[in-house]
Amino acid sequence: MNTGIRIHSVPRNPFRPGMGLEPPYLADRCDQLERFGRFLDGLPDFPRNVRLTGLRGVGKTVLLQRYAGTAMERGWVVVSREWSEHLRDERAFALALVADCRQAAEQTARTRRLKAAAASAIDRALDLLGSLSVSLAGITVALRSPSHQREPTPALEDQLFDAVVSACRGVTAAGGSGIVLCYDEAHIVRDSVATLQLPLSTLLAVTARLQREGVPLMLVVCGLPTLTENLARAKSYSERMFQAEELDRLRSPEDVHAFTLPLQTAGRRHDPALAKAMAADSRGYPFFIQFFGALLWESSAWPSPLTESDYHHSRPAMLAALDRAFFDARLARTSAVERRLLQTIASCGETAPLKQVIGALRMSNGATQRLIYRLADKGLVYRPERGVVAFAVPLFGEYLRRRAHPERG
Ligand SMILES: Nc1ncnc2c1ncn2[C@@H]1O[C@H](COP(=O)(O)OP(=O)(O)OP(=O)(O)O)[C@@H](O)[C@H]1O
Ligand SMILES: [Mg+2]
Repeated sequence: MNTGIRIHSVPRNPFRPGMGLEPPYLADRCDQLERFGRFLDGLPDFPRNVRLTGLRGVGKTVLLQRYAGTAMERGWVVVSREWSEHLRDERAFALALVADCRQAAEQTARTRRLKAAAASAIDRALDLLGSLSVSLAGITVALRSPSHQREPTPALEDQLFDAVVSACRGVTAAGGSGIVLCYDEAHIVRDSVATLQLPLSTLLAVTARLQREGVPLMLVVCGLPTLTENLARAKSYSERMFQAEELDRLRSPEDVHAFTLPLQTAGRRHDPALAKAMAADSRGYPFFIQFFGALLWESSAWPSPLTESDYHHSRPAMLAALDRAFFDARLARTSAVERRLLQTIASCGETAPLKQVIGALRMSNGATQRLIYRLADKGLVYRPERGVVAFAVPLFGEYLRRRAHPERG
């Protein structure tokens, strides 16, 4: 029945502020994706791993997910994991790696139709991985045969080497290209010589050995910039193992496209001047573009066009919302002295010479370094180079200055 009533469908807000949320338009990442494809194609003869770093909200997790998709399309089995503090314990770390190998083998068994040889390779892998998890979990003694018990426990590195080799054999026997391990928030794990917990060292040594022997494995580690230092401390050869992808703000004109293309797709009209003002305020940082875009979309009712004057009108409220959503909670986790250090950096901009920080705090070099270390652990600062300290959260300095002088807007 035709009621004569025309229903206009109202498009949904296209922007996706959040963590690891696929944006409506992935801006300025073609180069990284093209390079990643090449690295994959070079394996196993030319092994390359990827170290993906950048400030908070710059789009690391989103790109990591794209890497995973690219690898899967090319027949690789991808295992993804977000690292957390408990993995600083070597044994917990080893267990996690074995669990990842197991996941790769199980995924292969589930998703591919296996011929007999492949099925038995997967079964062998699962058997070995099962017994390795048991032994790593520390209940080996109860399960091993008496003759086995007298043998010394193989070093962790050897056990992990066997774990990955068996999983990769299972995957390749089933026709897969190999395994890609994608680790997010990898800056959280670091070695501690004091407590002899060396998970990163172990991982790097195992990976290097596997790749020397032609095992098709790729390691992708992703996190805040402190990751680079953690890896370098773990193994001095880490620089040579990784291709560094340092994500930064979106370059022009992609910073503008990240805002305008989703609007165009949704059919919402807007002033070109508005897009420029947005790109300037967000400084091209992806999270800020999504955040402002989403708020702006809702600042006036569909289908009214978005104008520059709307933007200027909404801007103070949008900045206040950004402070609440992104910055306040991070500042709330700091002590008074840590805040003094942050304020000192902010008084210089987004980075500061270490000397100036030490001078302003009137603390010893050692005490300042320890403070920086604590703040780095909280994901707030890092050392981009010797003698310099910087915010790991984009525009954190601007936020602190805005808090101190709200009248300047
Ligand atoms: N290339 C891009 N173009 C447009 N928007 C993007 C792009 N990359 C990421 N985003 C958006 O930016 C936001 C942050 O992305 P993501 O969570 O991947 O950042 P991150 O670097 O992993 O942050 P964190 O350091 O907090 O883990 C998300 O809302 C996402 O949709
Ligand atoms: Mg992330």
